[in-house]
Amino acid sequence: MVEIERLPTGVPGFDKLVQGGIPRGFFVAVVGEPGTGKTIFSIHFIAEGIRQGDKNIYVTTEESRESIIKQAAMFGFDFEKAIRDGRLVVIDALMGRRDDPWSLQELDVETLVNKVIEAKKYLGYGRARLVVDSMSAFWLDKPAMARKYSYYVKRVLYRWDFTALLISQYAVTTSLGFGFGIEHVADGIIRFRKSIVRGELRRYVIIEKMRQTEHSLQMHEIEIRNGSGMRVKAPTVYRKEDTTLPPSVAARMLAAELQKLLEVPDSESEA
Ligand SMILES: Nc1ncnc2c1ncn2[C@@H]1O[C@H](COP(=O)(O)OP(=O)(O)O)[C@@H](O)[C@H]1O
Ligand SMILES: [Mg+2]
Repeated sequence: MVEIERLPTGVPGFDKLVQGGIPRGFFVAVVGEPGTGKTIFSIHFIAEGIRQGDKNIYVTTEESRESIIKQAAMFGFDFEKAIRDGRLVVIDALMGRRDDPWSLQELDVETLVNKVIEAKKYLGYGRARLVVDSMSAFWLDKPAMARKYSYYVKRVLYRWDFTALLISQYAVTTSLGFGFGIEHVADGIIRFRKSIVRGELRRYVIIEKMRQTEHSLQMHEIEIRNGSGMRVKAPTVYRKEDTTLPPSVAARMLAAELQKLLEVPDSESEA
């Protein structure tokens, strides 16, 4: 038996889908459309890191630091205290305030990587968790660079004992440009989905890839509740009406899928 150290995510019901957690040192892509639960999943992952005494870094590009702290507090996680105690750094890449040492002045990957290393040095030696929410922000104006940048981030950061969630923010309509950077270099892919079933929004998670893991192959419904946060519920039986999309959107998705098939995953072999 090969023993693998795994980091629990802190999301009830999730860890048993991946044999107990995410293998230490993995770079995992967390993908999905807006509002599917990527940020909340990441907040749980960091809260669990705080609980376990890991060093934690959360890079936020789409919300301010205050917004992340507030969202965490809604689920009973005291991020402010963790920051004060030197167990968490939230790097704010949205506000970019000059008087704030933990902010990013530029949205480029080199600046990101350097700041993350600085934060890791500040937090000190030891097992660390990193969330970049989202990576897409770093190649908004140059989507063709997505894969190269993802590879760079993994190659440089991998020596620093991070287990990382790299979030890829993509809408169906833009998946052609944004979706396929991180996935090619990732050790795992966790996909969040949503659909409207009989007039109600439902959210799901499926693990598309997790190296060295006999992971669940089923789509599970998830629930997000005030006070407690995210929870994974029972597996879902795939029904056509759960995921039916307007024809124009479906056509764009198909085009994106074809594009994916045409891409040669060359960075995979470099990684
Ligand atoms: N306190 C809360 N109670 C219940 N649901 C919440 C709460 N906060 C956020 N949500 C739900 O979570 C959603 C946002 O999830 P989020 O993880 O930010 O999505 P993503 O990062 O994928 O865009 C909201 O649209 C809402 O449905
Ligand atoms: Mg988000």
